[in-house]
Amino acid sequence: MANIDQSAATGTRIFKYIDALAQISESPENLTRVSFSAEHKRANSLVAQWMTAAGMSVRTDSIGNIIGRYEGESDGPALMIGSHLDTVRNGGRYDGMLGVVLPLVCIELLHEKKQRLPYPVEIVGFCDEEGVRFPSTLLGSRAIAGTIDEAVLQDRDASGITIAEALKGFGCDPTALATARRKAEELLGFVEVHIEQGPVLEREDLPVGLVTAISGASRYRVKVTGSAGHAGTVPMGLRQDALVAASECIVDIEHICTNMAHVVGTVGMITALPGAGNVIPGDVEFSLDLRSSQDTYRDNAEARIFASLAEISKRRQVTIQHERTYQAASTSCDSWLSDQLGSAISSSGYRLHSLPSGAGHDAMALAKLTPVAMLFVRCKNGLSHHPDESITQEDAAAAATVIMNLLTRFDTNV
Ligand code: GLV
Ligand code: MN
Ligand code: MN
Repeated sequence: MANIDQSAATGTRIFKYIDALAQISESPENLTRVSFSAEHKRANSLVAQWMTAAGMSVRTDSIGNIIGRYEGESDGPALMIGSHLDTVRNGGRYDGMLGVVLPLVCIELLHEKKQRLPYPVEIVGFCDEEGVRFPSTLLGSRAIAGTIDEAVLQDRDASGITIAEALKGFGCDPTALATARRKAEELLGFVEVHIEQGPVLEREDLPVGLVTAISGASRYRVKVTGSAGHAGTVPMGLRQDALVAASECIVDIEHICTNMAHVVGTVGMITALPGAGNVIPGDVEFSLDLRSSQDTYRDNAEARIFASLAEISKRRQVTIQHERTYQAASTSCDSWLSDQLGSAISSSGYRLHSLPSGAGHDAMALAKLTPVAMLFVRCKNGLSHHPDESITQEDAAAAATVIMNLLTRFDTNV
C-alpha cells in the first residue's frame, strides 16, 4: 500500500488539475467544452504546460490530440496512457479529464524523483471522444489508430462548419490527417483510466475496478419529412406532421430496446422545422444512439427499429430516412495488459473486481492498433454526463497508486 501522506498529496494534486480544467468552459454556468473550440485549445495549452513541467516533450498531432512523451532508459516502444479533454454539454469534470491528469501526475512524481522507467511513456489528451459537436466520434483515438475515413472530415456541425474547417481554425492541418497515425511497433499498449459512470464499484465498496470489455455502439441521423402547414386551417385528419411521426418513432425505439436483453437505445437530440408555434412541423431530424455488449443484439435491435420506422412512415404518409454516422464493434480488453493492470490493483491492496463498460472510450479505437486495458474509478451514485458527477480524492489517489505500481513494475515482454 502506498504511504498515506504521499497518497493524500497525490489526490490533492489530481484535484487541483481537475479543478483548473473545469474552469475552461464555453459557459460560466456549466462545463461545456466541445472539440476544436477556443476552450479546447486553452485546455490543450494548460495540459501542455503541465506536461512540460513534468519533464515531457510535448506536441499536438494533426487531429488536435495533445501528446506528452516521458523518455525511458531505452528508446523502445512506449506505453500510451490517456483519455479525452472534450466534454458533453453541461457535463461533469472527471469524465475524460481524470484519465489525462492522473497519469500526468504519476509522471510528475517520477520526474521529481528523477526516475526514468525502462520504457518511454506517452500521455495523450484526445480531442474528441464525446462526439458532441460532429455526428461521428473518437476522432482523436481513431486518427492515431489509422481508422478514420478522410471523408469524415467533411461532416458538419450544427452551424455548418466541417471538421476540416474546425481543424484549420484549431491550428491543425486536415490534409496531414494521416500523420497522426501511429505504428503498432511504436507502442507497448494503451491504458485508460476513467470514472466508472455506473454504480457497480460503489456497490462493491471498491475504489477501482478492472474493465473486461467495452460495449459496441452505433449512431444514426434520422430525418422525417412530412408537410408543413397552417396550424389553424389544416384539419387533423389531413396532416403529415413530421414531429408527431417522430414522437411515435421515439416511443417505439424505447419500447423495442426495453423489450430486448442487453440493448440500450437513446434519442438525445431533436430539431423540428420550421419551428413556430402556429406551423405544423414539416421536417424533423433526430439522433439515435444504440449500444450493446454483443454486436448481434445491436444488429437485431437496429433491424427491428428500422422496420418499425418504415411501418410508421407508411401509415403516417411521411418519409423517414436514416443514415448511420458512426459504428464501433464491442471491444475486449487485452489479457496480457489487463493481467498486469489487475496485478497492480492487487499489489496496491485492493480486491480485484472485473466489470464491463457500457460507455464508449478512446480505448475501443486504440484496440485496433495495440493491446488495451482500462482502470475504472468509483463515482458517486454512478452519475456521469451530469454536472453532479463526483469522485473522492481518496479514490483518485488509490487509482494513482495502481498506475504507479503498473508503471514501475511493468513487464514489457509480451
Ligand atoms: C461517451 O461518453 C459515450 O459513451 O458516448
Ligand atoms: Mn469519457
Ligand atoms: Mn463521456
